[in-house]
Amino acid sequence: MMILQMLSVFIALFLSNSAQGANLSLFINKETDLKVPEIISKYGYPVENHYVTTKDGYILNLHRIPYGKDQAFGARPIVYIQHGVLSSSADWIIAGPEKGLAFVMADAGYDVWLGNSRGNRYSRNHTSLDPDRDASEFWNFSWHEMGIYDLPAAIDYALDIGKQKRLFYIGHSQGTTVYYVMASQLPEYNSKVTAHFSMAPIAYVNHLASPMLMYMALFQYQLEFFYSLFGKHEFAPTDSFMHNMTKLYCQLEPWKTMCANSLFMMCGYNPKQFNMTLLPTIMVHTPAGAATKQFMHYTQEINSGMFRQFDFGYFGNWINYNSAFPPKYNLAKVSSPGYFLYSRNDWLSSETDVLKLYKEIGNPAAKILIQDPMWNHLDYMWGIEAVPLVYNKIITLMMSHVDFSLI
Ligand SMILES: *[C@@H]1O[C@H](CO)[C@@H](O)[C@H](O)[C@H]1NC(C)=O
Ligand SMILES: *[C@@H]1O[C@H](CO)[C@@H](O)[C@H](O)[C@H]1NC(C)=O
Ligand SMILES: *[C@@H]1O[C@H](CO)[C@@H](O)[C@H](O)[C@H]1NC(C)=O
Ligand SMILES: *[C@@H]1O[C@H](CO)[C@@H](O)[C@H](O)[C@H]1NC(C)=O
Repeated sequence: MMILQMLSVFIALFLSNSAQGANLSLFINKETDLKVPEIISKYGYPVENHYVTTKDGYILNLHRIPYGKDQAFGARPIVYIQHGVLSSSADWIIAGPEKGLAFVMADAGYDVWLGNSRGNRYSRNHTSLDPDRDASEFWNFSWHEMGIYDLPAAIDYALDIGKQKRLFYIGHSQGTTVYYVMASQLPEYNSKVTAHFSMAPIAYVNHLASPMLMYMALFQYQLEFFYSLFGKHEFAPTDSFMHNMTKLYCQLEPWKTMCANSLFMMCGYNPKQFNMTLLPTIMVHTPAGAATKQFMHYTQEINSGMFRQFDFGYFGNWINYNSAFPPKYNLAKVSSPGYFLYSRNDWLSSETDVLKLYKEIGNPAAKILIQDPMWNHLDYMWGIEAVPLVYNKIITLMMSHVDFSLI
């Protein structure tokens, strides 16, 4: 019962679409409705929109802050930042200047590129497929495809425009998964990355503590039920279901506290780090879209305890992989220096799973336990102390890899 209740809460908070937007609009200042480039401009930073087409035809919208506020244009090291599941480039700017990771990096002297994964609100586009009309083909991807198609295309593009040979990579949550996929499947990309930083690393997930994901994992083999709850192609529960859930959890007085508490219930709980003022904006930008298959792939890992390609079932695996089981990702091939930032109150990225990953990955440089025992999965994006506890540490580590005088 408890788990079912938490599941509903999760759905209400993360998976809602326009239905929830409409309900909340009563409370939300119009400004929160701006798109990422408009928000960046509003804060007085330079911003560029870029479009990259992947080998399999997806059109990704990248956002770039080429230099910091009051700085001059000029070549500088690139940092590429990749969001997690159901999120977008908005994760890194919502907290505002001096707080959001994108602004902090730009002001520290970097050329900042913000990725948007296929299927999210900025990258819901394809050269020949329509996300609605051709749903079964368009949404036929997991984070595996993001790793082997989206990231290489985006990295090559950013290096080309920024006229650099290498870049720094920062990933959060699924943004770390896709990096391990790319660097193990396409090892030639390791030489294009000076160092990579994983915030809340996700490769092995069989020790995660999130009731919602554990619940989903129960239905890995009951596809029809899975689809009926979360949508068959695009991850999108029915409007009626959503409407009922938001009515239940977000409309009660005081609605803000109600929703915020449920959010913590889902992802771990750290009220000390959560800035309540940001909640309405967060609700507008998240969820930003995903494919149901991304979640199926993670639930497979919860059950198998492995980090491996999508499981098509016995016959499907023989057809796709010529073996009974999906191939494992070879983490030893991830060979540029890797830094792993983790915490002990993260319901998705558990310490046990992070330490296992750290042991297996090629070229581990350091693991960094965040110095707040209650630090959770969401705090990497919006935590009140994200700058001192996380971002400044990353900047210091980056400086040990880069010689600014050569640029
Ligand atoms: C999809 O990409 C094409 C080609 O870049 C563009 O003309 C079109 O406006 C885009 N559609 C959406 C919905 O972004
Ligand atoms: C989805 O992709 C898999 C391979 O990853 C393929 O076997 C299958 O036919 C595809 N399905 C659709 C509907 O495109
Ligand atoms: C939503 O609530 C209405 C009325 O309370 C009910 O008729 C409907 O079946 C519910 N829909 C879902 C998907 O739970
Ligand atoms: C909370 O967010 C608001 C809006 O961005 C900001 O003005 C305020 O300084 C933040 N508070 C803290 C404690 O970071």
